[in-house]
Amino acid sequence: MKIAGSVALVTGANRGLGRAYTRELISRGAAKVYGAARQPGQVIDPGVIPTALDITDAKRVGEVAAVCADVSLLVNNAGVMKASTFIDAPSLAAARAEMETNYFGTLSMCRSFAPVLAANGGGAVVNMLSVTSFYTNPFNASYGASKAAAWSLTNGVRLELHHQGTLVVAVHAGFIDTDMAALVDAPKVSPESVATMVFDAVEAGQVEVLADERTRTVKASLSHDHELIYPPIQEFWDAAVQGIH
Ligand SMILES: NC(=O)c1ccc[n+]([C@@H]2O[C@H](COP(=O)([O-])OP(=O)(O)OC[C@H]3O[C@@H](n4cnc5c(N)ncnc54)[C@H](OP(=O)(O)O)[C@@H]3O)[C@@H](O)[C@H]2O)c1
Repeated sequence: MKIAGSVALVTGANRGLGRAYTRELISRGAAKVYGAARQPGQVIDPGVIPTALDITDAKRVGEVAAVCADVSLLVNNAGVMKASTFIDAPSLAAARAEMETNYFGTLSMCRSFAPVLAANGGGAVVNMLSVTSFYTNPFNASYGASKAAAWSLTNGVRLELHHQGTLVVAVHAGFIDTDMAALVDAPKVSPESVATMVFDAVEAGQVEVLADERTRTVKASLSHDHELIYPPIQEFWDAAVQGIH
């Protein structure tokens, strides 16, 4: 689909990657860009229409789908990462919050906007996933589980919306230079570079974006994950745990 002339809605549009998405959409000539955010007052870029939305509030998701009935491009960007392990986390709170937002929130958006996209000619859905959809790292273990669930959701929604001509794009990335990765000392790609790749993919009809070298390497290694992906993570984690105990 063409971005120019499209009507887009981006979740988590007030900062980070979501803000880069809205700016890129405006620069490519989108006719209208709804910037959905829990704090809509923080959506301040010219041309972006602030829209109050917490994606974990299913009733509000339905209301927004009814009001923004002209959307042809849905960008499910909002997400949380609590840097939580499976075993030593003090409770299930982080795992539940990640699943509520990254999986159920995204699912709720897809369900409410599917008929909107159908009415507007099919359009496209972009789901912001992660390299951790493909493997687990103890550093953000339960986040990875929520992104793996969202990856599965993305593949399923693509199958279910094919009949209405909706393109469903999965975006996987390693570290992106936003607040979420602020404490990470590792190579990061810019949010602007991810936004460029994603809307190039939407315009080309591609179903998947692997946004950086690390993500491409991990996806290519999946058939040998226990030989190629997990040993260095295990070594790193064992050393980190030894440092703590
Ligand atoms: N940064 C990375 O290294 C990285 C790598 C791969 C994938 N991702 C994914 O990229 C997406 C964007 O993350 P980011 O890097 O821009 O992180 P960020 O700077 O932490 O921004 C997260 C955005 O999501 C919003 N959000 C969180 N929960 C929400 C909810 N329930 N309803 C509506 N909005 C909500 C936040 O709103 P508030 O301002 O209200 O909190 C914020 O706008 C996420 O899905 C993330 O998992 C990030």
